[in-house]
This record gives sequence, structure tokens and C-alpha cells, in this order.
Amino acid sequence: MAEKLEVRELVQVFNNQEVLRRISFSVREGEFLSILGPSGCGKTTILRILIGLLRPTSGTILKDGRDITKLPASKRNMGIVFQNYALFQNMTVLDNVEYALKFTREFKGSSRSRAESLIEQVGLTEHIRKKPHKLSGGQQQRVAIARTLAMNPEIILFDEPMSALDAATRLLLRDEIKEIQKKFHSTMIYITHDQEESFSLSDRIMVMDQGIIHQIDAPCGIIENPAGDFVRDFVIANLQRKVDSLAKYMGISAPDCGKPAYGA
Ligand SMILES: Nc1ncnc2c1ncn2[C@@H]1O[C@H](COP(=O)(O)OP(=O)(O)OP(=O)(O)O)[C@@H](O)[C@H]1O
Ligand SMILES: [Mg+2]
Repeated sequence: MAEKLEVRELVQVFNNQEVLRRISFSVREGEFLSILGPSGCGKTTILRILIGLLRPTSGTILKDGRDITKLPASKRNMGIVFQNYALFQNMTVLDNVEYALKFTREFKGSSRSRAESLIEQVGLTEHIRKKPHKLSGGQQQRVAIARTLAMNPEIILFDEPMSALDAATRLLLRDEIKEIQKKFHSTMIYITHDQEESFSLSDRIMVMDQGIIHQIDAPCGIIENPAGDFVRDFVIANLQRKVDSLAKYMGISAPDCGKPAYGA
């Protein structure tokens, strides 16, 4: 896989405090990368810089090898899905998805049919004429996803898109996001502080705390070789707790998260 995005030595200072401390990472074409870390560690700041809403203090961002650090958001061809859906409440589902398309040269003539098709793909055709407040949280988030997909972005960024949803809806939407990624071959960067969510969705997980990256690896790589105490405590121990409590509930003995359960 080719590098889609490369971040080099990114620094962000707010009020004399280094919120991002020279972080470097890359995302491959078609990859699903999670950024996993506790509240305040700098996840949203990374996203705001990537999408072009915030100019970093220093550092470089390359997309397909080209420096985009100073490019305005509108020229980056990236889409974002927020925690709070950010839908227009006075517009129908269809208008929400179609809105931005109407103003782009590429989709101007086909905006209605494109919006309808995307609404169908996220399973909301029967709600197409409704306004957002008539929909559940999960349905609203699907509208937000359809709206983001409509612009055909090369990279889709998610900022804790599930945190306002109940557990069952989260599981459902998680599968749908994975399906969407397969269907559209999008490169996705997904912010979460939920260990389980990052493990179930990601090709690789970037574990961070206090503005630094502790480890970037595939889920099994993190389980097998945690990079240090923070990864062991924040990731492995948390997963182990979940596994233990589930196992107790189901009356089975829990596997040890620190040891691979397969052919080792
Ligand atoms: N515009 C700003 N001005 C000053 N400080 C800021 C600004 N934006 C973020 N910060 C600070 O930068 C740090 C990182 O914030 P950020 O929003 O990136 O964290 P996060 O990892 O997304 O947290 P959460 O999981 O709670 O959303 C925090 O200490 C925050 O208070
Ligand atoms: Mg955040």
C-alpha cells in the first residue's frame, strides 16, 4: 500500500503548552487507522490540523507526497464526521446530503440522484423527507456519513462519531462503517478513546497520550508487543478487564489479552 498521508514532526502549541510534541506518522492508501488515547491527549487537534481548520505551530503534512500544510480546507479533499452529527436541523435528510453537492462543479448536475443513492446506501431511503430531529442518533450519524461520502473525499476523518450513541447502535454502526470502507475503498482515520472500538475496526492503531505517540501497530502487534507501560495500562489492561467481566458473566474462563490466542 502506498502512503496516502504523511505527517512529519507536527508540533502544536497552545498558551505556551506543547499539545502535540513532534509527532510523525503516516496513513496508507485504503487503510483504516484509529487514533486511540485518553481525553485531552491531542486527538482532535491532529484532526483539525489534517483537515485544514488549524495551522500547526510547525511540522509538515503530505498527501500523496505533496505538501498540503498551507492548503485551505476546501482544497484538501478530506471529509469529516463529528460526534454531534452537525446536521442542518431545518433541512430534510435529502437536503442535508445534497446541500454541498449543489455548489460543486463536479456534482452540480447530478446532485439529487447522487444524494438519493448515498441515502439508500446508508439505509435511510424511507426517512429521506424527514428532518433530523425525527431521527434516532444512529440514523442522524448515518446522514452525516452519507453527506461526507457524497463529496467523494479521498480521506474520511471521524472524531468520536459514536460517543453519543447507545451500545447496541454503536455495534451496528461500527459494522456499517467497516462495510462503507470496503465499498468505497476510502482511507479512514478514526478517533476514539474506546479500546474495543479501535481494535474491532482498525488495520492499525496509533496509541497516544499527552501529545506523543506511544505505538503504531496492527491490533495483534499491540497485544503481542505493547510498547511500554502506558500501552499496557491504557490498552491491554482495559481490554483484559472487559474480557474478564464478560467471561465471568458468561461462565467461561477468560483468555489472557497479553498472550495471542492463535497459533503462537
Ligand atoms: N483552541 C485551543 N486553545 C487552547 N487550548 C486548546 C485548544 N484546543 C485544544 N486545546 C487543548 O489541547 C489539548 C488537546 O486537546 P484535544 O481537543 O486535541 O484533545 P482530545 O484528545 O481530542 O480530547 P477528547 O478525547 O476529550 O476530545 C487539551 O489540553 C486542550 O485543552
Ligand atoms: Mg477530541
